[in-house]
Amino acid sequence: MNTVWTPSSWKEHPAAQQPDWPDHDRLDSALKTLSAYPPLVFAGEARSLQAQLGQVAAGNAFLLQAGDCAESFEEFSADSIREKLRVILQMAVVMTYSMGVPVVKVGRIAGQFAKPRSSPTERVGDLELPSFRGHIVNDQGPFAEARVPDPNRLVQAYHQSSSTLNLLRAFTKGGFADLSRVHAWNQEFVAGSPEGRRYDQLASEIDRAMRFMRACSVDTESNPNLREVDVYTSHEALILGYEEALTRQDTLTNQWYDCSAHMLWIGDRTHQIDGAHVEFLRGVGNPIGCKIGPTTPVAEVLELCERLNPSRVPGRLTLVSRMGADAVTDKLRPILRAVTDAGHPVVWACDPMHGNTYTAPNGRKTRHFDVILQEIAGFVAAHRAENTWPGGIHVELTGANVTECLGGADALSDTDLDSRYETICDPRLNGRQSLDLAFRLAELVTAATA
Ligand code: PEP
Ligand code: CO
Repeated sequence: MNTVWTPSSWKEHPAAQQPDWPDHDRLDSALKTLSAYPPLVFAGEARSLQAQLGQVAAGNAFLLQAGDCAESFEEFSADSIREKLRVILQMAVVMTYSMGVPVVKVGRIAGQFAKPRSSPTERVGDLELPSFRGHIVNDQGPFAEARVPDPNRLVQAYHQSSSTLNLLRAFTKGGFADLSRVHAWNQEFVAGSPEGRRYDQLASEIDRAMRFMRACSVDTESNPNLREVDVYTSHEALILGYEEALTRQDTLTNQWYDCSAHMLWIGDRTHQIDGAHVEFLRGVGNPIGCKIGPTTPVAEVLELCERLNPSRVPGRLTLVSRMGADAVTDKLRPILRAVTDAGHPVVWACDPMHGNTYTAPNGRKTRHFDVILQEIAGFVAAHRAENTWPGGIHVELTGANVTECLGGADALSDTDLDSRYETICDPRLNGRQSLDLAFRLAELVTAATA
């Protein structure tokens, strides 16, 4: 392979998980519209993220990648974006304070619409319907017409990403993320809980440290490092026509960037070494991720590293393991060793969600908080054994008080799932579970790397 890369060279490779668009003229017209739209992010921002991820690869920073499993065209409001950002900021502050390293914040947001599916059809009641593939493709309604892929959705996904990103930029640069507001990020439903009180205590310590700095004549009022944060965007680069349409050549470097998000990742179902997703992402300048599941052989991981980051640029490639709590330590150790021995400076992140999903007796897909934590503990243990840096976490969460994952301090059980089960795809941690996770993760990493 290693033929010349172009934004459309992926078309010469088998592309898994692409929708069966019924009307190719309408598809071409939607892609043409997107190609003429402005980029959502700039190449320079993607380079800054890559530099920060380089620090993660070197063991000097930590990656927090978090957000929806699938963003929804219906659940789209300023409130839900703000609440998601709020919980990400809270988690980041807990982790920064407890672990003593910068936390690089990347949302599964402003573009995380497309879903890979294990089967092209799914059973809904008595019907066998084409699978729901995310709102960028079709609708989850339980009838056949809803499931027909509609190319207009590609354009709608762009517009929703654009307004989401606009609000994120406003919140992160316009005062909402100011460290002097660290107490105000505690949401009402979290504040009275044990993890909410623990957070408040930590926020008070930060306040005290800020007062101390001011007393020492440090200007905390106008220091942008304390008043603003960088929150980057990411999504699974699944629908390659959409990604190609937003791929642009940077005028400064002549390098191609996929300007639909700062960071893109390849899912566990689409990392075939000669497949279209690997071909497409090998050629863009963005930092990229690749999910690694329990059935991926070590040799294949090495090939992916070579193909996706032949120049061994630190921060270019994040390997996101999602092994399942029982398998993680044994499966991960040989991979850590082989990739390190081959001299690949990757970011190692743990997705403790996707290897631990099961269907509860009432038919709801769920995950248990304790098992999620167990996968993180196994991930950290593997790194400790191999003397590598457990560099990040990749989780599905929302700021709202949903009941989608079991356990946590609320001890949610099977019978609670129906009360607020709102995800359109996989179960997410709620605000309290997310904050609790941040404290426990920080304890695990600090203990292992002390
Ligand atoms: C996801 O991140 O939502 C996902 C589908 O993950 P994976 O590719 O690891 O199964
Ligand atoms: Co998911």
